[in-house]
Amino acid sequence: MKVLILGSNGRLGSSLVRRWATLPDTEVIALTRTQVDLSDPEKAEAGLSTFAFGAGDVVVNCAAATDVDGCEHDHDLARQINAESPGRIARLCAERGARLVHIGTDYVFDGELDRPYTEEDVPNPLSHYGVTKLEGDRAVLAASPLHAVVRISWVFGPDKPSFVDAIVRRALISSEAAAVHDKTSSPSYTEDMALWLAEFLKPMESEGASEPLLPGGIYHLCNSGTCSWRDYGEYALKCAKRHGIPVLTTTVAPLKLSDMKAFIAVRPPRTPLDTAKFTRATGITPRPWKEAVDDYFSTWKP
Ligand SMILES: NC(=O)c1ccc[n+]([C@@H]2O[C@H](COP(=O)([O-])OP(=O)(O)OC[C@H]3O[C@@H](n4cnc5c(N)ncnc54)[C@H](OP(=O)(O)O)[C@@H]3O)[C@@H](O)[C@H]2O)c1
Repeated sequence: MKVLILGSNGRLGSSLVRRWATLPDTEVIALTRTQVDLSDPEKAEAGLSTFAFGAGDVVVNCAAATDVDGCEHDHDLARQINAESPGRIARLCAERGARLVHIGTDYVFDGELDRPYTEEDVPNPLSHYGVTKLEGDRAVLAASPLHAVVRISWVFGPDKPSFVDAIVRRALISSEAAAVHDKTSSPSYTEDMALWLAEFLKPMESEGASEPLLPGGIYHLCNSGTCSWRDYGEYALKCAKRHGIPVLTTTVAPLKLSDMKAFIAVRPPRTPLDTAKFTRATGITPRPWKEAVDDYFSTWKP
């Protein structure tokens, strides 16, 4: 089986490339914007079509315009990268009989629900990033019933710094830390995601079947449990300290989302994701986010 990974230099894509390199009978092809530039949908399709892949192969799209505030500045570019190009790629995959696994986001929701979001909940994005990512989800799903949209949230991992790295790095030089306390979601550890997303690569075991084991459609996937940015940052500092990283504080002062004047895009306040559908389909229950953060800091280097 060939697995082509778009966005292979990104936080999630790098993890998939590294972890899937050892999967049996699987050839992993890591693609960057040099080969497939999503800012031009026609060229993106042409770039991907030069690779030989077909029925039974899987394309995983981890590439996106992920700068949430940047998307407010350039709507057209955000739409090309997050919606138009994924739609083109989805149709190319469908023509060739390949599955596309497209990575989505919790920012398609408005964050007003008082429970974790399921795949059936109605999206209502508040930002242009969320709007274009939702358009991408819909274009992908419209292209083939084989395709899957996997919505994740608050990504962290060893290949590219994120919120937890920033807060711990700052605490190496300052005894003051602060983070938003009234915005909650569920962290997603890339090393865990690599294990779980591999479920989308498995073919049916029954003889002659070309259908994948997991049906297409939308899935929510992240570590279990819910936290605020403040909880997440404070727990990261505690783990860092426990693992011998010389942080100067383990206390994070609360900030209000409404006080974050540097934010241009409106952020949804509460977007934990309900992963029960993935668990029903695979038998896998994502481990708690605290375990994943602790694991991460056990090998962390500044
Ligand atoms: N980060 C989060 O907290 C978060 C939360 C929810 C959902 N997600 C979703 O998860 C997925 C992966 O996120 P991530 O954190 O791994 O993002 P990331 O680290 O920002 O990686 C995004 C990747 O997209 C590539 N890319 C950007 N513009 C491109 C273009 N025009 N053509 C081709 N490639 C392009 C980047 O390439 P370069 O390396 O060359 O820049 C990078 O490899 C995205 O779909 C994102 O929407 C992320």
